[in-house]
Amino acid sequence: MNFEALRELIRSRRTDMMVDKDRALDSGTLEKLCELAMWAPNHKMTFPWKFAAVTADARERLSNCTADAMAREGDKPERVAKARTKFQRAPVILIVGTEPGDTQLRTEENRDAVSAGIQNILLGATTLGLASFWSSCPKGANDDVAEFCKFPQGTHITAMIYLGHPQREAPVLERPPLKITNITN
Ligand SMILES: Cc1cc2nc3c(=O)[nH]c(=O)nc-3n(C[C@H](O)[C@H](O)[C@H](O)COP(=O)(O)O)c2cc1C
Repeated sequence: MNFEALRELIRSRRTDMMVDKDRALDSGTLEKLCELAMWAPNHKMTFPWKFAAVTADARERLSNCTADAMAREGDKPERVAKARTKFQRAPVILIVGTEPGDTQLRTEENRDAVSAGIQNILLGATTLGLASFWSSCPKGANDDVAEFCKFPQGTHITAMIYLGHPQREAPVLERPPLKITNITN
């Protein structure tokens, strides 16, 4: 891999939800992608990532789990109703959690490591021709989703990633011009 190939890969990854919800991923794909996450930099080698793959009928249960939490937290009824079909839009929702550390600093570093790992997953998915969409956990639903995934108590739900075969070429989102502050003395 040379720099240009890596640059092209990084630039071609897009957040996109327009996937064939009825076409499953090839067997072994999720394992390959999650293994990539584990090669992210990780201070103290805490291995803080937790993975759960939600497919088939469990997607509707996951949608209802988050919608119920949103309702409990007083979210608007129309948003709650919409949430009830949210996770059925892709064949798989890969949930990535972060285990807390023994100090606030370690907890923050764990999340940083997991976020770096998630980028590995997204880039890996891009090389496999898959669309991906990193979604946050709905407000107030973190602990409900962690329990749904059978993650340890206190796990932060860092990403709920929609994965699937794309139905379009997602539009490019340009970035602002690069700025680097050079500090030399
Ligand atoms: C921590 C994190 C949480 C995100 N959560 C959401 C989300 O809940 N909903 C959403 O539409 N996009 C979410 N995104 C994706 C961003 O909106 C997306 O990366 C951004 O629009 C740039 O698009 P691109 O990824 O195609 O370059 C999230 C991204 C990150 C890093």
